Amino acid sequence: MSDLTETLARDLATARERTLRLTDHDEPELLRQHTPLLSPLVWDLAHIGQQEDLWLLRRGDARREGLLPADVEALYDAFTHPRAVRARLPLLPPVEARAFCGEVRGRVLDRLERLGADDDPFHFAMVVSHEQQHDETMLQALNLRAGPPLLGAGAPLPAGRPGVAGTSALVPSGGFVLGVDAADEPFSLDNERPAHVVDVPSFRIGRVPVTNGEYAAFVADGGYDDRRWWSERGWAHRVETGLQRPQFWATDGTRTRFGVVETIPADEPVQHVTFFEAEAYAAWAGARLPTEVEWEKAAVWDPALARRRRFPWGSAEPSPALANLGGDALRPAPVGAYPAGASAYGVEQLMGDVWEWTSSEFTPWPGFRPMLYADYSAPFFGGDYRVLRGGSWAVGASILRPSFRNWDHPIRRQVFSGFRLAWDA
Ligand SMILES: [Fe+2]
Repeated sequence: MSDLTETLARDLATARERTLRLTDHDEPELLRQHTPLLSPLVWDLAHIGQQEDLWLLRRGDARREGLLPADVEALYDAFTHPRAVRARLPLLPPVEARAFCGEVRGRVLDRLERLGADDDPFHFAMVVSHEQQHDETMLQALNLRAGPPLLGAGAPLPAGRPGVAGTSALVPSGGFVLGVDAADEPFSLDNERPAHVVDVPSFRIGRVPVTNGEYAAFVADGGYDDRRWWSERGWAHRVETGLQRPQFWATDGTRTRFGVVETIPADEPVQHVTFFEAEAYAAWAGARLPTEVEWEKAAVWDPALARRRRFPWGSAEPSPALANLGGDALRPAPVGAYPAGASAYGVEQLMGDVWEWTSSEFTPWPGFRPMLYADYSAPFFGGDYRVLRGGSWAVGASILRPSFRNWDHPIRRQVFSGFRLAWDA
C-alpha cells in the first residue's frame, strides 16, 4: 500500500473503532431518542454505512443498487427524515446495522487496496470526515441522556496555566491567505476552498476561549436579565426559552456532563452556549465575537514568513501535547493547557476544546465549487446559521484543519460550543 492508502485505511479504522465504541450499548439504549434535535444512535450507525456505500461503492450515484433494499436505504436519507422523527422509523435493529456497516467497510477496503485511476482518494477522506462528524453528534446525544454515566468521566488532560484567561493578542492589519486549495490540503472540504487573499484590519483576539469562571461573573452580574447586552433576536430567544445560564449548569455551582454531576471548573472554556449568549457575554465584557476570517488569520498566518502554517503551531500533526481532540476527554482542557499549540500570534487552544462561535454567517468563498457530496455545504449557504471554528474536544484529529468550517443555528447549544472574544484595535 502507498503512504496515502495507508493513511486512509488508518483513518477509516480510527473512525470505525470510535463509532463501534460509542454504539456498544444494548438495543433499548441505541433506540432511545434523547432529544428531538438528535437521532437515536442506531440511526447514526446505519446512516454511516449507508453514506459510505453511496459515496465509495456507488461513487455517489444513488440510482445504482446499494447493499440495502431501496426502501430501507431511504430511511437513512437525512434530508427526507428530520432528526425529530427518526426514532419512529422502522430502522434496522442494531445487530443488522452493525453487520451492514461491516459489509460495506470490507468492500471499501478492497477498493482502497486496488485504488484505480477512477477512484479519488479525497472521497475516502470525505467519508472519514462524515463518520467522525456523526461520532461527535452521537456524543452530543449521549451528553443529553438521562441516567447514570455510560462513558465514565473522561481521559486525563494536561493542567492549565494561571494568568492566561482574559488576556489577548494583537493581530496587526494586513492581507493573508484565507482558505485552502486541494494542492496543499487534498482532504479539505468544498467550503474551505479556494485559497484567496483577504485584507484584515488590525484586531485583538482572546489568547484563550472565555472560561466558565469568567462566564459565571456575567451570570452573577444579572447578564441574563439585562436587555442591554442582547441583540434583538437574542433577547427574544432568551425571553421565550427562559435561558438563565449555560445548558447543563445548575444553580448550585455544579453541572451535569455525560451523567456525571461535578463542580463547574472555573478555568475550563465555557461550553453549551448559544451564539446569542456568546454575543451577549461579549457585549457585557466590552468586546465582540471575532469574524471567522479574523479567527482563521489569528490561527494560521505566519507574519514573519508571510505564509500559512498548516496548523496554528506549525506543520506537526495534532498530538495530545498540542491539542485536546478525539473525544476521549469528554470535556475541554483548562485554559493554558497547550502553550506548545500557540499560533504565530500567540493565540492558544484554537484546535480542539470547544467549537468557537464567530459573528459570521455561512457563505461560500469566492470561486466555490461543490464536491461530489454536493449537498454538504451549498444548501446551507445564506441560511440562519453562524459559523463555528476550531473543532471541539469531540472532533476526530484526522478530519480537522484550521480552515474547517462548521455552522449551526444561533439558538443551538447541545453542540460543544464556546467562544473567544475579539476587539477592534
Ligand atoms: Fe450524515
